[in-house]
Amino acid sequence: MSLPSFMQQIGLDAPGKPDVLRLEQAPVPAPGPGEIVIRVQAAGVNRPDVLQRLGRYPVPPGASLVIGLEVAGVVAVLGEGVGEWGVGDRVCALTNGGGYAEYCAVPASQCLPWPDGYGAVQAAALPETFFTVWANLFGHGHLQAGETVLIHGGTSGIGTTSIALALAFGAHPIVTAGSAEKCAACEKLGARAVDYHAQDFVAAVQALTDGQGLDVVLDMVAGPYLSRNIACLRQDGRLVVIAVQGGTKDDKFDILPVMHRRLVITGSTMRPRTRAEKGSIAAALREQVWPKLNAGQCAPIIHATFPLKDAAAAHALMESGAHVGKIVLIVD
Ligand SMILES: NC(=O)c1ccc[n+]([C@@H]2O[C@H](COP(=O)([O-])OP(=O)(O)OC[C@H]3O[C@@H](n4cnc5c(N)ncnc54)[C@H](OP(=O)(O)O)[C@@H]3O)[C@@H](O)[C@H]2O)c1
Repeated sequence: MSLPSFMQQIGLDAPGKPDVLRLEQAPVPAPGPGEIVIRVQAAGVNRPDVLQRLGRYPVPPGASLVIGLEVAGVVAVLGEGVGEWGVGDRVCALTNGGGYAEYCAVPASQCLPWPDGYGAVQAAALPETFFTVWANLFGHGHLQAGETVLIHGGTSGIGTTSIALALAFGAHPIVTAGSAEKCAACEKLGARAVDYHAQDFVAAVQALTDGQGLDVVLDMVAGPYLSRNIACLRQDGRLVVIAVQGGTKDDKFDILPVMHRRLVITGSTMRPRTRAEKGSIAAALREQVWPKLNAGQCAPIIHATFPLKDAAAAHALMESGAHVGKIVLIVD
C-alpha cells in the first residue's frame, strides 16, 4: 500500500472550548520499530480527549500531540520487526495519541483484530474502555463470577463497557447514574441502577444487596465518594479508582473500616503505561474477551457518530453528558 505524504487530522492552536478543534493538513506519520501505521476508518472519542483539549491531560513524552486514544482501520505500513500483522489486516488499536487523523502510528502489540462481523465504528469503540475496564475491574479489582460490583457513571463509555463485561463474566453490576432516564438505559443493558441525585447510593446499595454490601467498586468520581464507597464494601472488598471527577481528597476518610474489613484500595491510569504493559493487556483481551465479542456475548454501545471534521460537535455532545455509551468519529 503506498502512502500519501500528507493527511488530514484534527488540530488545535490553544486549549479551549470544543470549537478550538479544526481540520488541518499534516505529514503522514512513519512507523517506528515495532509499530504499524493504520489507515484510520473510525476513531473513538473519550473523556480523556476532552481533558487533553482543555489542556488538563499532559501528553506522555514521545507520544503524538494529536488527540485520540483509539482507532480502527486497515494496516497500511509495517515498521521494522513487526511480524504479527500484514498490510491490509483490519485492526483496532489502543494508541498513545494521534487517533483523530487519517493515519496513525501505533505499537503493533497494542492492536487487536476486528471481532467477527464488526465494522470500523464498532471496532473503534472497543480499545480505550476495554483495556481500561479489563485492567481495573478484572486486573486490580479481581472481579469474579457471582460477585456484585458497583460502577459509578453507568452510562459513560467506561460504564457501559463495565456493565457488558461484568455480565459476560457472570458478575452482578449495580450502577449509579445522574437521572431516571440514564438509570433506565443502564437497566436495559442488564444492570441494577441508582439515580444518585434522587437517592443516597450507600443506602441504596445496602438495600439492593440485602445488607451484604459489594465485592468491588469501580469509581470515576473519588473526592467525597471515597468514604462512601468504603461504606458499601463487604469483607475483602476492593475499591478501584480510575478518575477524580469529584476531587482527590475526602475529609471523612477513615482507615479503620479498611483494616476491620480487610479492604483493598487501588487505582490506575492507562495512558502512561509502557508498551509492554499495554501489550500484555491486549494479549489478555484477545484470549479472554475477544471470544466473547466474537460470540456476541458482549458488545460496545454506540451512542452517536460524527465525521472527523465535526470533532468539535462530538466533544460538545460528550461534555453535555447526554450520551449513553460511545461517541465515534468516522474518518473515511
Ligand atoms: N484511569 C484510566 O486509565 C481511565 C481511562 C479512560 C477513562 N478514564 C476516566 O473514566 C471516566 C469515564 O470516561 P468516559 O470516556 O467513559 O467518559 P464519559 O462517557 O464522558 O462519562 C463520564 C461520566 O462521569 C459521570 N459523572 C460525572 N460527574 C459525576 C459525579 N459527580 N458523580 C457521578 N458520576 C459522575 C457522568 O455520569 P452522570 O451524567 O450520570 O453524572 C458520565 O457518565 C472519565 O473520568 C475518564 O477520565 C480513566
